[in-house]
Amino acid sequence: MRVARSKTPWIFAAVISLPLLGFSQQQTTPPANPAATADQSKEAKPKPPEEDGIPVTSDVVRQACGSCHKSDEKKRMTRISARRTTPEGWQETIRRMVSLNGVQLDPETARQVLRYLANNHGLAPEEALPAAFEVEKQSIDYHYSDKDTENTCHSCHSMGRVISQRRTKSDWELLVAMHRGYYPLSDFQAFRRFGPPQTTPGPDGRPPDNRHPMDKAIANLSGAFPLITPEWSAWSANMRPARITGTWAIAGTQPGKGAIFGTMTIRAKDGADDEFITSTKLTSARSGETASREGKVIVYTGFQWRGRSTRAASNQASPDQEGLREVMFIDRNMQSIKGRWYTGAYDEMGLEVEMTRIGAGPVVLGMDHPTLATGGSGTYTIFGANLPANVAAGDIDFGAGVKVARLVSATPSEIKVELNIAGDAKIGYRDLFVSGVVKERGAVVFDKVDEIRVKPQAGMARLGGANFPKQFQQFEVIAYNYGPDGKPDTKDDLELGPMTKVTWSVEEYAATYGDDDIKYVGTIDQNGLFTPNVDGPNPQRPRNANNVGDVWVVAVLTRTGKDKDGKDLPPLRARAHLLVTVPLYMRWDTPEVEGGK
Ligand code: HEC
Ligand code: HEC
Repeated sequence: MRVARSKTPWIFAAVISLPLLGFSQQQTTPPANPAATADQSKEAKPKPPEEDGIPVTSDVVRQACGSCHKSDEKKRMTRISARRTTPEGWQETIRRMVSLNGVQLDPETARQVLRYLANNHGLAPEEALPAAFEVEKQSIDYHYSDKDTENTCHSCHSMGRVISQRRTKSDWELLVAMHRGYYPLSDFQAFRRFGPPQTTPGPDGRPPDNRHPMDKAIANLSGAFPLITPEWSAWSANMRPARITGTWAIAGTQPGKGAIFGTMTIRAKDGADDEFITSTKLTSARSGETASREGKVIVYTGFQWRGRSTRAASNQASPDQEGLREVMFIDRNMQSIKGRWYTGAYDEMGLEVEMTRIGAGPVVLGMDHPTLATGGSGTYTIFGANLPANVAAGDIDFGAGVKVARLVSATPSEIKVELNIAGDAKIGYRDLFVSGVVKERGAVVFDKVDEIRVKPQAGMARLGGANFPKQFQQFEVIAYNYGPDGKPDTKDDLELGPMTKVTWSVEEYAATYGDDDIKYVGTIDQNGLFTPNVDGPNPQRPRNANNVGDVWVVAVLTRTGKDKDGKDLPPLRARAHLLVTVPLYMRWDTPEVEGGK
């Protein structure tokens, strides 16, 4: 399963064949030798006093790291005191110290070092949230504000790794020097400008900027992401162990599956104030399927939840035996926790989760089918927690035109009701009240589906199954109503959410004339899940090519009902682009922080 995560030999080859400290002659910046700076005892001059470092008060860190990273009289250690980052960022560095710098660490010490550094050289919530996509492993199209820096730093790993760092200016310089020393390709790929300097002034009349891209990046990053920030000063003063034990309501969405509701009980692990044991019950609103999960969590920096859960022993045969990783952020009021739970060889399968603390009163989470068609009727389920036992039909309110005809059943977590929606009910989002407690926009009244869109618009899958794992791509269809004005793309449009009754297929994308990718790339099922074909050359394909290709994924929704002129509503069609590519043979972007081990 984890094949693609292992380091490939060429990294080591590059290190071995290159003298470790050997980037002297072609040097264009002043010699900044990261390794030597790690050990100041070998340097004649002390560290310049202009930059403050964070004192290291942990003896474990001093013992594990101090042989190369010396401390000064203020307990500031070289490099380590000049940097703050996420738990994953520290994990990556510690791993790199082991793999590239020959550091020997037993797992328990490594965990203690990680925890100390993540807590004391960490990020404030305001700093961590913009880079949440990195640790949540979301495949989003992120763009950094400075194009030059982005071009210099994003070709080998995500910009998320960069923006989750805070460093002194000299430590940003040393980071760049480390790349040049260990990964000499970075010079050619991104860091240096080749060719003669520009002489013509730019359109604004100013002389051309002939700095090397890496020097521009250092200038930008040390301004944008300095070590000392007001956010961190405030958070590190205010930080405390997260008090999150108790019961929480869960509302999640899983692409292809829809809404998932449930509860989680969080207990403290004996003797620890930052480790927890969790028991979770989940129900898929659409299918009624239920699951129980058990998990362990560490909370870093007072708000960063890193956990792992597996299905409870009774249904061990499920496909997620590996478990779901949980990366979440605890809100500073400790009343809500948000993030992503995921699995898959490429972390591509997962659900977005929001948890709310359950107090004395009821919580309304959502519905199985929150889309209420005018003139329709049926049984609907409202999900929640602590829902009142003695609820009556009259306590449930969707607003005008939606009649609660009958209360079918009620438990603390589910209320089933029969609804009649008037033919002339006004279309729009409706707040759902249950015994005075609201779920804003808990339902939407609509007359017809006007448009469907496939999400994501550009998908990617990776061949696998022979030597590498497959990367799947889940698609879903989101339906829209054009709102009271009947016009597309206006503010009153109503998002109706995912639609299940669609037909999925794959069509040729005419990138290359006469190609026949659809025969080779893989298949899509009727839940919108694309499964790529096997990796490696295919003898049946012209030129023995891999099963790679570009295709359209097409969804068709058949509608019932008539239009204004009494004609049957025609089916709706939407498509998305899917690139099916080779496995990732080498991965830089996978630091993991185990929860609660
Ligand atoms: C055997 C010597 C050695 C030990 C022990 C050692 N390091 Fe390092 N460390 C280095 C060298 C050499 C560099 C500079 C080159 C590099 O970045 O890999 C470095 C660089 C670093 C950096 C800067 C990396 C960056 O992202 O720019 C950090 C942070 C760091 N070490 C942390 C640690 C921690 C934490 C420990 C203890 C677990 C540790 N080191 C133990 C040799 C060591
Ligand atoms: C040529 C490819 C390449 C480019 C370009 C590149 N990096 Fe890296 N970067 C790497 C590799 C390889 C690693 C080490 C990854 C590992 O060990 O998993 C790394 C690691 C890092 C780390 C983690 C270091 C640590 O000790 O934790 C940071 C931060 C980073 N890069 C920032 C940058 C920045 C900033 C830029 C632009 C100035 C940049 N990278 C450009 C390849 C690159």
